[in-house]
Amino acid sequence: MRPDHATKALDISVGTRVEADGGLTPLVLLVSAVAAIGGFVFGYDIGGGGGSFAMQGFQTQFGWANKSEAVRADEIGWISALLTLGAAAGAAPSGILSDRVGRRPCIITSALIFSIGASLQAFASGSPSASLAQLYVGRLVGGFGVGMLSTTVPVYIAECAPGSWRGSLSMCWQFAIVIGIVVASLANVPLAHWDQGWRVSYGGNVVFALLLALLMVWMPESPRWLGQRGREAALRRTLSRLRSSTLAAEEEATSIEAKAAEEAAGGASSWRGLLRRPLAMRHRMLLGVALQCWQPLAGINAIMFFAPKILLAYFSAEAALWGTLGINVANAAATVVALVGVDRLGRVPLLLASGLLMCVCHLAMVALALSPPSKQLGYAVVSVASLFVASFAFGWGPLPWTVCSEIFPTKYRSKATAVTTATNWLVNTAVGKVFPLLPLATAFAIFAAACFAACATVFFFQPETANLGMEQIDEAFESHRVRRVSAKLWSADRRARIRAEGRRRMRAAAGAAAVAYASEVRAAGGDGAAGVGKGEEKRESIV
Ligand code: BGC
Repeated sequence: MRPDHATKALDISVGTRVEADGGLTPLVLLVSAVAAIGGFVFGYDIGGGGGSFAMQGFQTQFGWANKSEAVRADEIGWISALLTLGAAAGAAPSGILSDRVGRRPCIITSALIFSIGASLQAFASGSPSASLAQLYVGRLVGGFGVGMLSTTVPVYIAECAPGSWRGSLSMCWQFAIVIGIVVASLANVPLAHWDQGWRVSYGGNVVFALLLALLMVWMPESPRWLGQRGREAALRRTLSRLRSSTLAAEEEATSIEAKAAEEAAGGASSWRGLLRRPLAMRHRMLLGVALQCWQPLAGINAIMFFAPKILLAYFSAEAALWGTLGINVANAAATVVALVGVDRLGRVPLLLASGLLMCVCHLAMVALALSPPSKQLGYAVVSVASLFVASFAFGWGPLPWTVCSEIFPTKYRSKATAVTTATNWLVNTAVGKVFPLLPLATAFAIFAAACFAACATVFFFQPETANLGMEQIDEAFESHRVRRVSAKLWSADRRARIRAEGRRRMRAAAGAAAVAYASEVRAAGGDGAAGVGKGEEKRESIV
């Protein structure tokens, strides 16, 4: 018996708990904010490199004056593809590492690997070909670090968050990405006037990566990982720091332990197990892979990477950079909608609304691409592109990361997210390589079709996971049936139903934990049994 049972019994009898999972605490907020620095590093990489191609200093260093347009285009293609390929390669090892040594050391290692890669890029020197070789190696190594971060950080945040805040806290990841993109594209404007400015575009985020590695030293390990490894004392200690009440921490620890024991009874996790039927793993895997496949196929990086180039058909170089900045700001602003709505409205409605709006924007882009260019048309392109990016930002931007970080059982979580994340980066590489080769109208038509297919996937195969504890998500998958087209999806009381259902499930779990205490205390012959019994009655009246 653990020594603090009397306190727990008291907690239960007082029954002051308002939110079943203990709600938001300053430490949970800090943990999410610190880990999300990884997202900033990722976003800065997306926003930084693109602008460098227009910088005189970069062009001189890499001898572009003596290279043909085709050679330059090829180099641009590799600079972007090596990052995404490196990221795809980094996803799998980070899944294994974060299972073996824990999420925290894995994030620290990822940040250090990224710093080595980004430093190689920033300090590329020597002849144009030697500089280019160093830049390429740096992109690959830095990409490896980004891939590791994008596999581990969303999982770490989701595993530390209380159920009722998991969606919003997971959004910190995407929010940090979009802030990173905005900061990098803003910095590119003055950096363009300095002949060494491009080095900051490629390596400025090393400062943030090192900060992440340093701060993570003080952050707690993920409670789910601790539970999975059977570190009972550390699990309880960590949860008591992360949750606002002893009762909430104890309930969650009990539920994590029960789930870990159940998962352990099914044998060790294996890569093959990812596609087996037990635990609805096949369903979860296919859904996760599909979400991470549709996200890049929705066409976001055609805009993120190539917006300045597309806008050059309508505007001057400077105006194109400002237009790009406007689009990136729309991205950041709309992410706030997801931050606020993800736990209130639910994942499924946001994904559907976002996907359908993106589809409409792509169709409008097809029409614009088929019209003869003019300045007026350029304004229309910026407006539609901004609307498209905003639609992405409140749904398909953050939610594939959030959903993939929460839908897998702890036993399989690292391996499964490694596969889903690698899928995202591989498809991203393909989009980056193929998009510049296609006529614009064809590319946008393909993206429109992908958005539609993405909505269909979500509509039919995705159970709602908002407000569920991570352990209750298993139940949501096991009982999910392929949805029939139903008008009820949009009914006015949907939001209330999601929240009520979440509360009902949390109460059920809390009730089970209280009963478990009572019987443990009784079994130990403690005199807290009566108190616990009263606590249960009191709880009944609260919930
Ligand atoms: C995507 C990136 C994209 C970024 C834009 C992320 O969720 O994974 O590929 O560039 O959002 O905001």
